[in-house]
Amino acid sequence: MVMNIAQRMDGFSPFYVMELLQRAKQLEAQGRDIIHMEIGEPDLSTPKCIIEAGLNYIRQGQVKYTAATGLPVLKNKISEFYQHRYGVQVSPERVIITPGASGAFLLSLGVSLNPGEEILMPDPCYPCNNNFVRFFGGRTKFVDVNASTNYQLSADLIKKNWNKNSRGVLIASPSNPTGTLISEQELKKSINLVNELDGCFFSDEIYHGLVYGKRAHSALEFNQKVFVINSFSKYFSMTGWRIGWLIVPEKFINPIERLAQNIFISTPTHSQYAALAAFSEENSEELENRRQEFEQRGDFLYMELLRLGFKIAVKPKGAFYIYADCSRFTEDSFQFAKDLLEQEGVAVTPGKDFGKFEANCHIRFAYTASIAKMALAIERLERFLCR
Ligand SMILES: Cc1ncc(COP(=O)(O)O)c(C=O)c1O
Repeated sequence: MVMNIAQRMDGFSPFYVMELLQRAKQLEAQGRDIIHMEIGEPDLSTPKCIIEAGLNYIRQGQVKYTAATGLPVLKNKISEFYQHRYGVQVSPERVIITPGASGAFLLSLGVSLNPGEEILMPDPCYPCNNNFVRFFGGRTKFVDVNASTNYQLSADLIKKNWNKNSRGVLIASPSNPTGTLISEQELKKSINLVNELDGCFFSDEIYHGLVYGKRAHSALEFNQKVFVINSFSKYFSMTGWRIGWLIVPEKFINPIERLAQNIFISTPTHSQYAALAAFSEENSEELENRRQEFEQRGDFLYMELLRLGFKIAVKPKGAFYIYADCSRFTEDSFQFAKDLLEQEGVAVTPGKDFGKFEANCHIRFAYTASIAKMALAIERLERFLCR
């Protein structure tokens, strides 16, 4: 019997950075000191009050399923959060608790995308988006973006690239890998345009808490017929708990519920109880301190990379990434990343993990390491560049 691998797996791209991560682990096992600036997750631990809330739930022993769309009390909390943070009313029924933003993508694309339809995304962007679209038989229409639009899509770019097969637009602001935000005006214009075109607007707001400067606007401030994807992974430092959420237009509540029932049953229950504490008064000060810490790290890294000769066309205003142009040093950023790891023990992510457009002359640095560690990384990077 020939056990064929499903055709949908053709072209499912791996993370190139995993190759680097594996090598970094080997080097660490050999005793080398590696500075990790490749990983897109906070180095800080989950806040104590969240851990306690999760443990308290586990200790009572009955760790059971919840309703597929999540614990009502958590859905209420998230609904209040939208009122409080953005001044928008979102009914708890429209809040769907998911296994991370990844689960939210799966559900939202699963209920809205037909085979053969296209989703517009910027290049560069978070690499899994394209694979989610492919999983449902859709196609990604990548739109090259540069500094002129803050590395984000704009209403003009959407209009130019929309065709009869287009089904929707997916943006992330702040963006991974560039850390840049879409402007309030452009977000509003883009949402209105997609609505006029009868398409779906997917707004990935996973890095919203980590913004340095003007606050980020939620797509929900401009229109209720959007899919908003968010997560406890980044701002709340809960990557491994696998919990996020999705806000859906009214009409999609029922299909989403049916899909969630079938593919997840529910999001990990202890994580849902833990997440309840994420919005507590006690935690808000802790989160603000962390946001400030990331801001300082970002400023430090930005200045140092410029000093070394990297080009950064737009200063990032959010997330914990700098997407730096390394064309002064190399035309092959993957090889550059491999050599940097081998020779100096600094791990970074090559541009080709985020798309094709100018990927070979970009590197993503994640400032998920302390300033002291990054200072050492910069020292090593400087030595590497002088070779
Ligand atoms: C832009 C973006 N969206 C979604 C995700 C997935 O996050 P989660 O851990 O919540 O599934 C990531 C993770 O790096 C991300 O950077």
